[in-house]
Order: sequence, then C-alpha cells, then structure tokens
Amino acid sequence: MNAPLIDPFARAIRYLRVSVTDRCDFRCVYCMAEHMTFLPKADLLTLEELDRLCTTFVDLGVEKLRITGGEPLVRKGIMTFFRAMSRHLDTGALKELTVTTNGSQLARFATELADCGVRRINVSLDTLDPAKFERITRWGRLPQVLDGIDAARRAGLRVKINTVALKGVNDDELFTLTDWCAREGHDLTFIEVMPMGDLGGEDRLDQYWSLKDLRDQLAQRFTLTDLAERTGGPARYVSVEETGQKIGFITPMTHNFCESCNRVRLTCTGELYMCLGQEDVADLRAPLRASSDDAVLTEAIRAAIARKPKGHDFDYSRQKVAGQMSRHMSHTGG
Ligand code: GTP
Ligand code: 5AD
Ligand code: SF4
Repeated sequence: MNAPLIDPFARAIRYLRVSVTDRCDFRCVYCMAEHMTFLPKADLLTLEELDRLCTTFVDLGVEKLRITGGEPLVRKGIMTFFRAMSRHLDTGALKELTVTTNGSQLARFATELADCGVRRINVSLDTLDPAKFERITRWGRLPQVLDGIDAARRAGLRVKINTVALKGVNDDELFTLTDWCAREGHDLTFIEVMPMGDLGGEDRLDQYWSLKDLRDQLAQRFTLTDLAERTGGPARYVSVEETGQKIGFITPMTHNFCESCNRVRLTCTGELYMCLGQEDVADLRAPLRASSDDAVLTEAIRAAIARKPKGHDFDYSRQKVAGQMSRHMSHTGG
C-alpha cells in the first residue's frame, strides 16, 4: 500500500469526485447556458483510462468515489465503469461508491447500480411543480425523474435530494419539498447557488437565496437541532423533531468548510481540480498516456495534491465586479 495523500495543510485526501461527461440531458438555468458547446468525444478519457486513474487514487488511499457529470448516467457504457469500480468495494479498499444524478436515467439503471454496490445516491430536484421543473431544467420532465427516484428506492438505494435554493423560483416550495421528503423517506440537502459558469446574461445575485433565511423559515414551523455529524461532504445537518427528518445545508457563501476538505475532482478529460472554487488544475491525462508505469501517474497525483490550496475564493461582491468564474459546474461535477 502506498503512503496516503496528504496535502500541505495536513488534510488527508480520501474522496475523489469524478466527472465522467460534461454532457447533460437537462440545461438547469443555474448550471448551464441554453446553448452549450460540449467537448468533442475524442477529448474524453476512455472508460479504461478512467478505471486506471481511479484505481491509482484508490491505491493512494481514496475511500469514497462519487461519479458525477454533467449527467453521469448519459455516458455510454457507464455501467461497465461502475461494475469495474465495484471490485474495489469487494476488496474493502473503497468504502463507498456513489453517484450524483439528475434522476432522468434512474428508472433504467437503479437496479444495476445497486448490483454494483452503490448504496446511496444524490438526486438533484429543485421543485415538485412540473411546469416549474421544465422552466428550471429547460428540457426535463418531472414525472420521469420521480419515476427514477421510485425505482431507486425499490432497488434499495438510499436517496438524498439536492435542492438548489433559488430566490423567486422555489422559495415558495420550502415546506412542500420538506414534507414530500419526510413522507417518502428521503434525506434532503439545500444548496446555496454558487457563482460558476457564464449563463448568458443571467445575474446570480437575482437567484441568491441565503440558507440562513431558509433555515429561519424552517425554524418557524419546526424544532431544529444542530447535529455534529458530517458525511465527509460539505453539508451541515439539523434534525427536525416533528418529522424525524435530517436536513442538510451546503452554504459555501456564508460558511467556510474548507478546513476539513478531504476531496479533489477529476474531469472527464483527466484534469484534476484541487479545489472547486479555484482555477488551478493539474493535467493527469498526459502522464496517463505517456507511460503505462503507474509510478509516473502516482508522482503526478502527489505533485498535484501538493498544490491543493487552503480554500476557495467565492465572493459575490467581488465576482460581480470582476466577472464570474467562467467554468461551469458541469465541468467539475459540482
Ligand atoms: P455527500 O456524500 O452526500 O455528503 O455528498 P456531497 O454533498 O459531497 O455531494 P453532492 O454531489 O451531492 O454535492 C452537493 C453540492 O455540494 C454540490 O452543489 C456541490 O457543488 C457542493 N459541493 C460538494 N463539495 C464541495 C466543496 O468541496 N466545496 C464547495 N464549495 N461545494 C461543494
Ligand atoms: N450552484 C449550486 N449548485 C449547483 N449545482 C449545479 N450548478 C450549481 C450552482 N451554480 C448542483 C446541482 C447538483 C449538484 C451536483 O450541483 O443541482 O445537485
Ligand atoms: Fe444537468 Fe445537473 Fe447541470 Fe442540471 S444541474 S444541467 S441536471 S448537470
């Protein structure tokens, strides 16, 4: 076993997020512009290359692998990749194999995901109103996603719903969403919208709904208790006494959780982002293709981790002046 990956701030890197495609069958208004130019397929790492890279990370102590996109389940042959990664669960090297998805393909893949050892999945869902869902996702159909979520539950997968808090869009659905999740037995996490990607003229400040305000509204109806536990992700959780629910909050704008960051992000072209909120990137595709010697790749990964910054730089006031971060969330998988 190789020495684990430790960054300059003594944080152990145990969590790799892997974006397997930049494409998506939806165009959520906060995530993508309506007309996107996607990468030519030839630029993508092959599934075999992704396997070799992820396996190297697992050898270096990564215990949690989250497959993201774009929409990961639209990548051709993706189940072959899940199947391949499940061998690391079998050996015990990997503790968790999971996915963040928009749910559109779940009806087709839920059973297979469960067969590959996936136990819980995160599904993005910002509204329960079909017309609003079509406005937010531009092309999505709510019933298809709800069917997918049902299929996931039937397959025995635990579901966490990710809801991006959007002022003037879903602020009227706070209780509809929390009640639905309580009834269906899903976990729920609210996410503050982050200033990533050019949206073709939309102003992020118009969409920004602070989770502090959201939480205050919840507290007017429910008894909330802060929980100390973390899932290895950036969310902080409260329990809701009346429903027995657990609700998470991801507040990159108002709460800095960088000090306990344990993750890095791999894009579908083999770039490694050491931080979601920074532009610095390490190319792993070149060493991957240059040599079949895993030692070369291992060294490239270690050199990248040595560059991991202390934290992100999101700042609405400055972003507004300096222009927003040009990279779309779908590039690094959130
Ligand atoms: P859990 O394993 O359930 O804790 O998942 P997670 O929250 O790590 O993953 P998910 O893919 O559901 O991400 C939810 C949201 O958290 C997305 O909008 C991500 O962009 C955001 N997020 C995840 N990791 C980070 C991070 O390191 N920094 C920031 N700023 N946001 C993050
Ligand atoms: N800000 C916050 N969350 C975002 N997501 C996509 N774009 C943004 C953004 N700009 C969310 C999706 C998904 C998760 C991976 O990231 O809704 O749940
Ligand atoms: Fe697709 Fe997710 Fe981005 Fe929506 S948020 S466009 S579902 S990648």
